[in-house]
Amino acid sequence: STPSYILAVETSCDETSVAVVKDGREVLSNLISSQIETHKAFGGVVPEVASRKHVEVITLMLEQAIEQSGIRPRDLSAIAVTQGPGLVGALLVGIVAAKTMAMALGKPLIGTHHIAGHIYANRLTHELQYPAMALVVSGGHTELVHMESEGKFKLIGRTRDDAVGEAYDKVARALGCPYPGGPHVDRMAAEAEQAVPLPRVWLEADSYDFSLSGLKSAVLNVLNQAKMRGETLEPSVVARGFQEAVVEVLVEKAVRAVREYGSRQLLLCGGVAANRGLRSALQERCAKEGLELLIPPMEYCTDNAAMIGAAAYLKWQRGEISEFDAKADPGLSL
Ligand code: KG4
Ligand code: ZN
Repeated sequence: STPSYILAVETSCDETSVAVVKDGREVLSNLISSQIETHKAFGGVVPEVASRKHVEVITLMLEQAIEQSGIRPRDLSAIAVTQGPGLVGALLVGIVAAKTMAMALGKPLIGTHHIAGHIYANRLTHELQYPAMALVVSGGHTELVHMESEGKFKLIGRTRDDAVGEAYDKVARALGCPYPGGPHVDRMAAEAEQAVPLPRVWLEADSYDFSLSGLKSAVLNVLNQAKMRGETLEPSVVARGFQEAVVEVLVEKAVRAVREYGSRQLLLCGGVAANRGLRSALQERCAKEGLELLIPPMEYCTDNAAMIGAAAYLKWQRGEISEFDAKADPGLSL
């Protein structure tokens, strides 16, 4: 059969990304333009600034991604775009660009869910087996998603307040690290020889939900109390305490979910999947319990369009095409 080529666009937050994916797996191009340097000065993502930056680079990136892929625009099978969740103004830039391409080339449009993208990033490099359980951890999301079969998502747990990446970034800020601070906390935690004791937030015994804001406050309290007593507290010792508290709960709940739902694989995904403490704790635990753990390569963990192409391919195969009046949906559910 003739190969399929999907042009994918992702602009849900602070990365502009355009990719061309062949047959849902082979990444022919995957350009990513990060706005981190721009947002650093503000200590976080400023939505209006994000939208403007996407507008500045999207047209050139579309051109370059197609050129790098080596295929002709008329050979594209479909145009995929992240429809939500995300920042509405940021999403809109990608959607307008994708619709324009789809109309000009006469190709179908495939609105795609950002989290489905993070999950199917695993499919770029691995064969998925169902039922599967996905642990999605990023700057905007902390979710446990049960997948009974391909394209079937059931949200079984989510954060009730901050996302894990968000908590990492806030703690990092309190420890004096620049935005985004997750990788700094990760590095400091690895260097520390001790950890400050911090609470594990389990919520109700049977809940798969998470809560991070209390832990974040506990970190701030520990720092304030040390300051008031005139003591010096090594930032790395705080970083390690925080990381251990986060990782223990994530691992425990993910493994319990895998057991309860009889998942054949655990898929770790999202930007925080880059966290070394989380990766090694999950790897160790899954090895011990004989569970299969999949983690995408680093470049497909953080926001990128290749993962959107991977998710869109499955919709395209099922004939799930979007209307041209498809709208940005910041609160889109799976
Ligand atoms: O998936 P992502 O690129 O964007 C969202 O969709 O949110 O995730 C970004 C988040 C940021 O909060 C960043 O601090 C966090 O992932 N992150 C990490 C690490 N690398 C990135 N958090 C902890 N440890 C890391 N090594
Ligand atoms: Zn993301």
